[in-house]
Amino acid sequence: MRQRGIFISFEGSEGCGKSTQIQSLTETLKRRSLAFVLAREPGSTAIGEKIRHLLKYTPVALCPHTELFLFAASRAQLVREILQPALLAGSFVICDRFLDSTAVYQGIARNLPFDLIQCVNRHAIEDCVPDITFLLDMDAHLALKRAIRRRTAQDPCDRMEEEPPDFYEKVRKGYLERAEKEPERFVILDAEKTADSLSQTILKILEARWPFQLKTPYGD
Ligand SMILES: Nc1ncnc2c1ncn2[C@@H]1O[C@H](COP(=O)(O)OP(=O)(O)OP(=O)(O)O)[C@@H](O)[C@H]1O
Ligand SMILES: [Mg+2]
Repeated sequence: MRQRGIFISFEGSEGCGKSTQIQSLTETLKRRSLAFVLAREPGSTAIGEKIRHLLKYTPVALCPHTELFLFAASRAQLVREILQPALLAGSFVICDRFLDSTAVYQGIARNLPFDLIQCVNRHAIEDCVPDITFLLDMDAHLALKRAIRRRTAQDPCDRMEEEPPDFYEKVRKGYLERAEKEPERFVILDAEKTADSLSQTILKILEARWPFQLKTPYGD
């Protein structure tokens, strides 16, 4: 399949600021009247949201393989139902987490074999790989503190936020290792900078890489 849109993913551990940056970027795209599709992982399709609920709120520990296959099931549906059609139509696609989350969380932090993760991811996404991935990198404990502060009464027991502290260190290291292996796709950002300065940096990077696609006839 030939993609025509631009696929942007945001990665990083809990609380690093992915949703904050995505909101800022989508506001810019809206102001510029540019078409975009926003997706979060797991979820965004009807079945994906059910899988998200299972993953987040199942009160017993899921074994790592179960986690891997549930994430992959959600992703396979998302790619075929939403992302591929949107990219074919020339839209921006913005994803709050994508394949790198699986590689890091299930591969590095849960110790599943790398070739298994690769194989499952390859079948789930086919050729739907992000054009650019912003990694919001920061001290794992600080990020977690941010996430816990933000946690609301409706979201009291997210399983992923109840891991031992060294889990988050592994996640951070895992992301950085992945980014080093694919420097042409990843952009590593210091997530301790202010939200505004991060938004400006992200926009500048996107405008430099895709000046035509981000241009607006109305100014911004
Ligand atoms: N650059 C920043 N500096 C300080 N605080 C920030 C920054 N970016 C986001 N925050 C705050 O940190 C908290 C977590 O941010 P956000 O929800 O965007 O993170 P996230 O990466 O989406 O987390 P999760 O993985 O849990 O969805 C929020 O309360 C947000 O307002
Ligand atoms: Mg978020």
